[in-house]
Amino acid sequence: MEIKNVGVVGCGLMGSGIAQVSADSGYQTVVHEIDDQILEKGLSAVERFLSQGVRKGKLTEERKKEILGRIRGTTRLTDLGGADLIVEAIVEDLEAKMKLYRALDDVAKQDTIFASNTSSLCITEMASGTRRPGRFVGLHFFNPVPLMKVVEVITTIMTEPIVPDVVIGFARSLGKTPIRAPDRPGFVVNRLLVPYMLDAIRALEEGAGTKEDLDAGMKLGCGHPMGPFELLDFVGLDTTYYIANIMYQEFKEKRFAPPPLLRRMVLAGLLGRKSGKGFYDYT
Ligand code: 3HC
Repeated sequence: MEIKNVGVVGCGLMGSGIAQVSADSGYQTVVHEIDDQILEKGLSAVERFLSQGVRKGKLTEERKKEILGRIRGTTRLTDLGGADLIVEAIVEDLEAKMKLYRALDDVAKQDTIFASNTSSLCITEMASGTRRPGRFVGLHFFNPVPLMKVVEVITTIMTEPIVPDVVIGFARSLGKTPIRAPDRPGFVVNRLLVPYMLDAIRALEEGAGTKEDLDAGMKLGCGHPMGPFELLDFVGLDTTYYIANIMYQEFKEKRFAPPPLLRRMVLAGLLGRKSGKGFYDYT
């Protein structure tokens, strides 16, 4: 099976990035959002990233236009009818996703593969709620999508044998390195990353160091591009809290339990870069 046309549902941070890398790799890409305003915001983010790329000398103005020419924004789900692969990157809410998949089942071709960019929800559960459980996978991208090189490919016990190769081939065609991950909370990367970030918060709570020193330690001592608190602000404290809770519910292991400070910061609206303040101030 050859993928030519790609559909992306959700044009937020992740969806817009996925649409961009898809169009960049030559796929005709239709990206869906629920309203024009959110759609425009997402498409502007793509335009901004590509323009920055032109300024940095990473691509030409012609190439930028070519990429943008392959992305079509829409608020009509029926416009995804021609897609061979549909990547879903909407809000992390199982009910909302299931409602979407039921609608997509009616719109999409029979052999279209559905891929969820969820970071934490159960792929098997979502696949079971569709009429194509064998053609449903997880395809987990990392933020910022155009720069992060890995994509997790999550299959289930129901996945048809041909599907992993198709999806892995797609990820490779985007210039990404696909890694196989089991359908378990956190998959591979967040299973390691989330406890690390939670542990940094616990270290801070226990007075092991200041957030600046802990960040400097990991950046300068271990070569990480961001320290754990910078990364928490980047990922979003609410997102981290949400993923940690799902992992804790499934595994009941203390290392996945959100520390009290994280919950309180989320309750206080200190969500990181997205709200202007988190561990650091971005205002
Ligand atoms: N177009 C093309 N290239 C661009 C670009 C653009 N618009 N903007 C940046 N780049 C390139 C730069 O030219 C540079 O390339 P070079 O190394 O060849 O010079 C590279 O990208 C890095 O860019 P910058 O130097 O401008 O930016 P920084 O050095 O400040 O890096 C960062 C920014 C890439 C975000 C880096 O800080 C980083 O890697 N942080 C960690 C991010 C991370 O861990 N993400 C995963 C989060 S977890 C997740 O997403 C999972 C979820 O489920 C929670």
